[in-house]
Amino acid sequence: MPLTQAREIAAASRLHNVRYAIRDLACVADEVIAQGHKVLPLNVGDPLSFDFQTPPHIIEAAYKAMRDGKNGYAPSPGIPEALEAIRGEAARKGLTTVRDVFVTSGVSETVDLCISALVNDGEDVLTPSPDYPLYSAVLCKLGIRLNAYDLDENDGWQPELADIERKLTPRTRAIVIINPNNPTGSLCTRQMLEQIAELARRHSLLVFSDEIYDKMILEDTPHLAFAAVAPDVPCVTFGGMSKNYLVPGWRIGWGIVSGDAGAVKTYTEGVHRLLRARLCANHPEQYAIKPALEGSQDHLIEVKRKLRARRDLTQKWCEATPRVSCVAPRGAFYAYPKIDIPEGDEIFVKELIRQKHVMVVHGSGFGQKPGTQHFRIVFLPDEATLTKAYAGIAEFIRERYA
Ligand SMILES: Cc1ncc(COP(=O)(O)O)c(C=O)c1O
Repeated sequence: MPLTQAREIAAASRLHNVRYAIRDLACVADEVIAQGHKVLPLNVGDPLSFDFQTPPHIIEAAYKAMRDGKNGYAPSPGIPEALEAIRGEAARKGLTTVRDVFVTSGVSETVDLCISALVNDGEDVLTPSPDYPLYSAVLCKLGIRLNAYDLDENDGWQPELADIERKLTPRTRAIVIINPNNPTGSLCTRQMLEQIAELARRHSLLVFSDEIYDKMILEDTPHLAFAAVAPDVPCVTFGGMSKNYLVPGWRIGWGIVSGDAGAVKTYTEGVHRLLRARLCANHPEQYAIKPALEGSQDHLIEVKRKLRARRDLTQKWCEATPRVSCVAPRGAFYAYPKIDIPEGDEIFVKELIRQKHVMVVHGSGFGQKPGTQHFRIVFLPDEATLTKAYAGIAEFIRERYA
């Protein structure tokens, strides 16, 4: 018999605002699956769940590294040949003032380390709204007040400069841009990047530029890296293997520090303390970074062909469906349509799963202007699946809001 009754172990109250809507919906989907239905998954951004395959030469490189015994700890910043390859990639992106490069377990870890190394209690970081929810999760974990700036749907989801200026405080340390953006699929214009750079200069901000989808551009215009447009501004560019090289399960990402050398020196040392504290990123997979970045990029031709066709199908459906409108995505594999409905988008999404077995994610899980409602579509599934899913959503809207 225990002497005392076991008391509940409470989780930290800092975590109350940590949400990951994408995975939180899984409980509703589980209900539907338990009833014997198949769910059409337009919710998870994992190309490997659909008809996309990892380039074989990359798999071979990681496999060879394992066979060759590269299974111990790696150097904390990453193995030298991977760091050199990332520097080469930075040069191809037009970055001319690279001061440091490091490898992490996915961009998720880069985000965590880079924010943790920067922000003190009482300071804040400007994040876009809507945004990829990891940013707010990391800030909540650190007990940092959220400070989100709006993206303007009426301007192709460009950052709203006036809102950034309004939200800036003397204690704002950094601004996050996600380009191409998740969940909107938008790309920042050169003019926008220049204007953000100007703000960063005036307010001594560090810029975190999340460019994890930089090779998934669905337009003919090339991707513009923030650090190429503003070589003097302190910036960490986030990149990785998950999306561009179709290996999200490998957990390989990186940070590229650029800008005025004196300005970024102390901060970079701080990042390295954290890199050492967590020992290293996944080791054998790092041997695939060089072959990925320097080898054949042919898989991207097929990836972009499929994504363009699926984006076009998605956009046509949005345009043809009552109560739905959408800014056409220009990069990555997300669309963020607006819906004109008399109830919350979370109810919309949950009922859609229950009634039509189609899974999308509610806009309130990413952030949106008050009074507006959205949902995020991942258009990675093949055309037949998308067509079936869109027919289900259209029918749901017709039946529920006629
Ligand atoms: C904008 C953005 N940043 C970062 C990540 C995380 O990437 P990783 O798999 O490298 O951790 C994602 C994943 O979907 C993302 O969409």
